[in-house]
Amino acid sequence: MTTLVTGARGKVGQGVIARLHATGHTVRAASADPAALTVPEGVETVELSLGRPEGLDAALRGVRQVFLYPDPAGIHELIAAARTAGVEHVVLLSSSSVLGPDAATDPLARHSLEVERALAASGLTCTFLRPDAFATNSFGWTHFIGGSRPVPLAYPDAHIAPLHPDDLADIAFEALTGDSLTGRALTLTGPESLTFREQLAVLSDAVGRPVRVEHISRAEAERQMGRFMPPAMVGSLLDLWAAACHGPATVADTTATLLGRPARTYRQWARENAAAFAPQH
Ligand SMILES: NC(=O)c1ccc[n+]([C@@H]2O[C@H](COP(=O)([O-])OP(=O)(O)OC[C@H]3O[C@@H](n4cnc5c(N)ncnc54)[C@H](OP(=O)(O)O)[C@@H]3O)[C@@H](O)[C@H]2O)c1
Repeated sequence: MTTLVTGARGKVGQGVIARLHATGHTVRAASADPAALTVPEGVETVELSLGRPEGLDAALRGVRQVFLYPDPAGIHELIAAARTAGVEHVVLLSSSSVLGPDAATDPLARHSLEVERALAASGLTCTFLRPDAFATNSFGWTHFIGGSRPVPLAYPDAHIAPLHPDDLADIAFEALTGDSLTGRALTLTGPESLTFREQLAVLSDAVGRPVRVEHISRAEAERQMGRFMPPAMVGSLLDLWAAACHGPATVADTTATLLGRPARTYRQWARENAAAFAPQH
């Protein structure tokens, strides 16, 4: 039985491919840029941009399950092609943001919600993984910490419960290989609420060097983040963090319950990834 993993260059896709391949499952890795893709030997690769239907038939040939990155562009074509190919189950990398009251209009949540709704209406069996913020978002700080510069933050006291990527990949693997999660919608968080300031203190311990915070204005954050993402997305993220300053983030016990052991901590992630924050010369 072949499983198609889309978004294969992504951090989550890579973890899912590695787990499926290591346990003898047949995996096809789909990426918008397969030439830039690193996969274990024996994993077939295929070009697929979710917004463009050209590669769909080839990518889905013989496939029974899909691990899907959410992209509303082309979702109806993907669903039609999946049904034709005989796909039986789709595991969607959605987001906890779909549970927000303004999800239908929020630029951060909307794309995941649109894909969830299209899949729910498709008749395909679907499992929705709804993670909260990833610990891997901290890679956005490597440049500052590696350059011994303060990390600029508009909301340093925003609370987050960072999810370890290996816990997300373990649960995605279970969703694809077992039947206990099939058809469910699962909200996933890390095991503890930490402010950005507290995350940076944990990183400072892990790298063995001081890490400073620079409290910047919202306008300055808009300017800096606007270099990497559209203004609507920046506004939405900053609103989220402003609201997250009011108290600890909700910690869901789903991750530990599904794994049957405590969820991996942010401290563990920081220790495992300390080298990425090493001084840059
Ligand atoms: N970050 C969070 O806190 C968070 C929280 C909840 C949900 N999510 C959801 O999770 C998904 C992934 O989020 P992410 O932020 O961690 O992104 P990511 O998985 O690192 O990358 C997303 C996709 O971008 C493409 N890509 C383009 N250029 C790339 C490059 N140079 N290196 C790697 N990938 C590249 C890849 O698809 P191709 O291989 O096809 O090009 C990849 O799958 C998103 O749909 C997001 O909505 C994220």
